[in-house]
Amino acid sequence: MGDQAKLSAAGGDYEFPVLKGSVGPDVVDIRKMYGQTGMFTFDPGFTSTASCESALTYIDGDEGVLLHRGYPIGQLAENSSFMEVSYLLLNGELPSQDELTKFEFTISRHTMLHEQLLQFYRGFRRDAHPMAVMCGVVGALSAFYHDSTDISDPQHRKISSHRLIAKMPTIAAAAYKYAIGQPFLYPDNSLSYTGNFLRMTFGVPAEPFELHPAVEKAMDRIFILHADHEQNASTSTVRLAGSSGANPFACIAAGIACLWGPAHGGANEAALNMLKEIGTPDKIPHYIERAKDKNDPFRLMGFGHRVYKNYDPRATVMQSTVREVFDALKVDDPLFETALRLEEIALNDPYFVEKKLFPNVDFYSGIILSAIGFPTTMFTVLFALARTVGWVAQWNEMISDPGQKIGRPRQLYTGPTQREYIPVDKR
Ligand code: SDX
Repeated sequence: MGDQAKLSAAGGDYEFPVLKGSVGPDVVDIRKMYGQTGMFTFDPGFTSTASCESALTYIDGDEGVLLHRGYPIGQLAENSSFMEVSYLLLNGELPSQDELTKFEFTISRHTMLHEQLLQFYRGFRRDAHPMAVMCGVVGALSAFYHDSTDISDPQHRKISSHRLIAKMPTIAAAAYKYAIGQPFLYPDNSLSYTGNFLRMTFGVPAEPFELHPAVEKAMDRIFILHADHEQNASTSTVRLAGSSGANPFACIAAGIACLWGPAHGGANEAALNMLKEIGTPDKIPHYIERAKDKNDPFRLMGFGHRVYKNYDPRATVMQSTVREVFDALKVDDPLFETALRLEEIALNDPYFVEKKLFPNVDFYSGIILSAIGFPTTMFTVLFALARTVGWVAQWNEMISDPGQKIGRPRQLYTGPTQREYIPVDKR
């Protein structure tokens, strides 16, 4: 008999098994708690709740550790590619060269969109936020691929997973092209996954596209940094949608919708807008005070994290990538100095130190993306593009779990107890 957690409540004494993972906090298995005690646990925001078992990504928030299938994010960002990390997340092991080549070829076979799907873009206003377009177009994919929506069929799951990973760059690039009134470019599968995306985004039919190697490398690294992140809000949304048996395209559309929020994936757009609002370093103290003021809704966007109570390891890589892109493009952006100064001041302020608020993945990403040429409205679209492989891997892990069941939380009810209806003429 393993460790047991004891509970004395509701007039009784109960014991619940303690389960151990390969690393990280143990969990108390309370699946039988309601049946035994008649009580629910209460954990809005799930700050102390493990929703599932997973072997994909491990985060140690206190130590600032992020592992994908056991490999540290810093080593993957330095040595791997987004396609290789995608293979790792989907299959559990790093691929051989032959396996990677075959995977990249398979993905490249799905990069085009159905011609009628491209008509969907024309229904949007040109000034529609690209995330609104992504929600609509990705959700509409399920209207085009009836041949791969039987989630009980592993082959269908594999094809739809590959389709989603492959098509997100084409969908994202088309959302940008539509917004600026330029023609869509079809994929060029002679390029890398990331090179293909950059060409579809910044290329034009009128002239050859010159792919900048340093930009391609930086973009690919940014995709790696956003690939997966344990049971964050959008991943939990995908899992919950998938638990009802919804098709994978609809589940990923739900994840995109959740990611859009400024407290989550929308923070990269909000962080750059915040830096633009602050402007110069001399204005930083005023905004630091606003961020600390409970009566002011202003928060330092790109700061703080539900799990990381130390430096987000992705922010470390992101910060060093800023200089690489600036040097490669021979650009500079005074907002980078403002961001560095803001970080320095915040990390020496007792408020941020006590609450363990550090820069997260979104704090520096906007500066790089802006230098590459993306408008702020595209930042969360890029996050969604990269996170699709994580969502798909988590969805596959859930669907293939024999113990999987529909997610259906309960509540602490605080509304009126039963009362009799009163006819309107008697109220
Ligand atoms: C992502 O979960 C993931 O893994 C997400 C993600 C991923 O890869 O999927 O990592 C991506 O979403 C990164 C986070 C991006 N969001 C932002 O940068 C928005 C700004 N950050 C905050 O909104 C906040 O830090 C959250 C939402 C990220 C985390 O919020 P929590 O865990 O619910 O913590 P909290 O809001 O309860 O904050 C704790 C305290 C509060 O003060 P008290 O009520 O205790 O007095 O810290 C304060 C907050 O007011 N606080 C901030 C702050 N973040 C938290 N104060 C000022 N500025 C901030 N940014």
